[in-house]
Amino acid sequence: MAERRYLHLNLVANDLNLHQGAYKYERAQGIAERGTFERLLEYGRFGDEGLFTALFVGDIPGMQGSPAFDGGPAEPITALTAISQHTEHVGLIATASTTFYDPYNLARLLASLDQASDGRAGYNAVTSVIDRFALNYSLENHLDREARYHRADEFLQVLRGLWDNRSLRRDPDGLTRFYAEPIDHRGPLFQVSGPLNIAPSRQGRPLIAQAGGSGSGIRVAAKHADMVFTNSSTRASAAIYRETLDKALVEEGRAPGSVPPIPGLIPYLGRTTKEAEEKLRELDSYVDWEPLAPFALGQFGIEVPLGDMADPFPVHLLPRPEDVEATIKSTFGNYVGLYNWIEERPGVTVREVVAQAVGRGGATHRKFVGTYDELVDDFADWHEDGNVGGFNLMFSAGSAAIREFIDEVVPRLIDRGIYRSTPADRLLRERF
Ligand SMILES: Cc1cc2nc3c(=O)[nH]c(=O)nc-3n(C[C@H](O)[C@H](O)[C@H](O)COP(=O)(O)O)c2cc1C
Repeated sequence: MAERRYLHLNLVANDLNLHQGAYKYERAQGIAERGTFERLLEYGRFGDEGLFTALFVGDIPGMQGSPAFDGGPAEPITALTAISQHTEHVGLIATASTTFYDPYNLARLLASLDQASDGRAGYNAVTSVIDRFALNYSLENHLDREARYHRADEFLQVLRGLWDNRSLRRDPDGLTRFYAEPIDHRGPLFQVSGPLNIAPSRQGRPLIAQAGGSGSGIRVAAKHADMVFTNSSTRASAAIYRETLDKALVEEGRAPGSVPPIPGLIPYLGRTTKEAEEKLRELDSYVDWEPLAPFALGQFGIEVPLGDMADPFPVHLLPRPEDVEATIKSTFGNYVGLYNWIEERPGVTVREVVAQAVGRGGATHRKFVGTYDELVDDFADWHEDGNVGGFNLMFSAGSAAIREFIDEVVPRLIDRGIYRSTPADRLLRERF
């Protein structure tokens, strides 16, 4: 009998995706302030308790210079290595930029996380979009999108080569020893001899995830990834993404359906829809939106003059996604999500658009406002379509919202038969 297909839920496990009002909201709830690593270890405990497939830690490789994204949280591999010592089951997926790292260094760091966690490590390969960050890494300019993906492709080739050329063997004297072969990679961008000097974990090498939704991003994912982090905000766009990815997988000689897309989702929940809406309103009320206005569209490199915060948003000035696809700065999929959200709300105010674009969980991933049962129905519908492997969940209201999800939604998902009721005991790479 075919194995039952469960929904994968990853917990996005640092504060990058918090609502801008989350810290004040936590204080209003009587939740004590915690330091960065206390918060990280708390994410770890929630990860195991909520039976999440993995913790997913994004990264901003520099100071964003905006009050919306301060780049404060710890470096992901360091964070997850600490968490690995306080968790048992949850996978640990760290984001790092192929544009700014050196592949041999990153191969060592991630292989070490894989050892520390006994085979629960994953790597989310991103190419990064903020031009200014290049100046932190001895580069004169940020590479353009195509160049970044050429580098990502060769980078992942080197990484996999280094990881795959290792083995643990039991020798005739009864001792297990680590063996590794050189790779002698001579490419246009990297010249790496190897071998890698860190032994493999029980899963051989870390899982590889990819985040970046343009055509070149999808080609890199089809070649190297075991899962992809996407930003489909509707079931229809998830179906289109799935079709595109499957086509690319076939071109790479891989089976269609073998790499699950995992879109981001930001839930705002309550016992009633009204309660959920009130929570979001309360969070919004803690933020001064005006200084964030320039970042709403500025993150995409789009300049639209915004008047009074209470004015209707000037929709007629908003470029159509198809006209900016080639030139857009930040993630194209995020822009499409925001564009559709604005289109669907005639008369929406400047304040609402600013809040949606930068305040309610960072980038414009799908935001769900509703009851526990409505979220379970929503998950069941997406699961039934079969176009996603699950969701990367970002709890923008902070720890109270994760607690609520574990107490209220997880049991309902298990009852519905679409979520595991016991911890994932397989090696991370075998889970997706
Ligand atoms: C869902 C998603 C998550 C991402 N997370 C990060 C991140 O944590 N750090 C980062 O530097 N870039 C991140 N990126 C940016 C991508 O690496 C990439 O640079 C950007 O999406 C532009 O490429 P694209 O047009 O192929 O999407 C993310 C992109 C997507 C789609």
